[in-house]
Amino acid sequence: MTAERTRVAIVGAGPAGLLLSHLLAEAGIDSIVLDSRSREDIEQTIRAGILEQGTVEILEKIEGSRVHTMGHRHDGVELRFAGEGHRIDFPGLTGRSVWLYPQHEVLIDLIAARLAAGQDLRFGAHVDTVEGVETDTPRITGTDAEGRPFEIVADFVVGADGSRSVVRPSVAGSMTAGYFREYPFAWFGILCEAPPSSDELIYSNSPNGFALISQRSDTVQRMYFQCDPEADPNAMSDAEIWETLQSRVPGTSLNEGPIFQRDVLRFRSFVVSELRKGRAALVGDAAHTVPPTGAKGMNLAVADVILLNEALRRLLLENDESGIDAYAEAARHRIWKAQHFSWWMTSMLHLSPESTEFDRYRQLGELHAVVESEAGRRYLAECYTGWPFRTTL
Ligand code: DHB
Repeated sequence: MTAERTRVAIVGAGPAGLLLSHLLAEAGIDSIVLDSRSREDIEQTIRAGILEQGTVEILEKIEGSRVHTMGHRHDGVELRFAGEGHRIDFPGLTGRSVWLYPQHEVLIDLIAARLAAGQDLRFGAHVDTVEGVETDTPRITGTDAEGRPFEIVADFVVGADGSRSVVRPSVAGSMTAGYFREYPFAWFGILCEAPPSSDELIYSNSPNGFALISQRSDTVQRMYFQCDPEADPNAMSDAEIWETLQSRVPGTSLNEGPIFQRDVLRFRSFVVSELRKGRAALVGDAAHTVPPTGAKGMNLAVADVILLNEALRRLLLENDESGIDAYAEAARHRIWKAQHFSWWMTSMLHLSPESTEFDRYRQLGELHAVVESEAGRRYLAECYTGWPFRTTL
């Protein structure tokens, strides 16, 4: 078998890998993108839906993006607690907004754009080994969709392959090297056929636990409620799910309808110990996981990619290592801010099994302090809409 040659081997065709291949191609740097999943799998997996304004500004420039035709601008969210809703006005506080545009739609756009541009993009390709990251010619081997072995030699390898990254051990030394936090709850997510219950998202802290009321379209809604991490998504009837959701948004009532998809989302925080080693680096969920509260996951992946793109341009076009040497620290700066925000929103809004009455009253005190202070509302709005992307290293 003769090894194929490319400049950047990107493992993972999620938002991070696809966006990186786009940005590199703009600079004339060729790449091969590999993903073990099928195109259908990638395009149909339901994920979160909120894009920061900075993310939208990147995506809207990509040929064929439907973010402005299919997505919806959201100028605020509601924090609901103690029977009342409190609006956080994003443009009024920060001059910025967010967009509700589900991640699988972003992926449909990106895959179409990359294929139209002639990107070497391979689905069903399993990577088995990543070697030589401390040489100038790292290589990956694996098996393609037809079961044939492949070997690719690159100038650089990028792990954009999600939380079960096969590239991570080559960069960080092991799968688990890093900083972890587990939470004693999960989210039960549903998609239902019903009219919207609210124009904007509702993040609700209730005595029975957290709920998030989100939307997808005029006829399809996405909602979540805090549940036991071991919950079986099929064990509850539709009526029980609606009763649970209604009880989690005291003071308002939800429009109900048939539930056609259910899932349980794990809750964890993780940051890998090393984001780069020699000629390999990690981006997105391969490098970090955030709990879903605040919808930072994909936005953080985009922020990593913008930095790595700049670093790789310098390395591969100018033979200048300063950018790649600065990548890990620059990425970590935002990663920990987003970790904090996701943890903070989670801790402020969820009921922990070990919560005492003290904890519960303290939490309500915290929520009142945030919504009654312009500084508090602005802080939340700045984090939620996203800090400006840093593009220089
Ligand atoms: C959605 C998911 C989130 O985690 C969040 O914070 C907001 C919205 C969603 O899927 O719509």
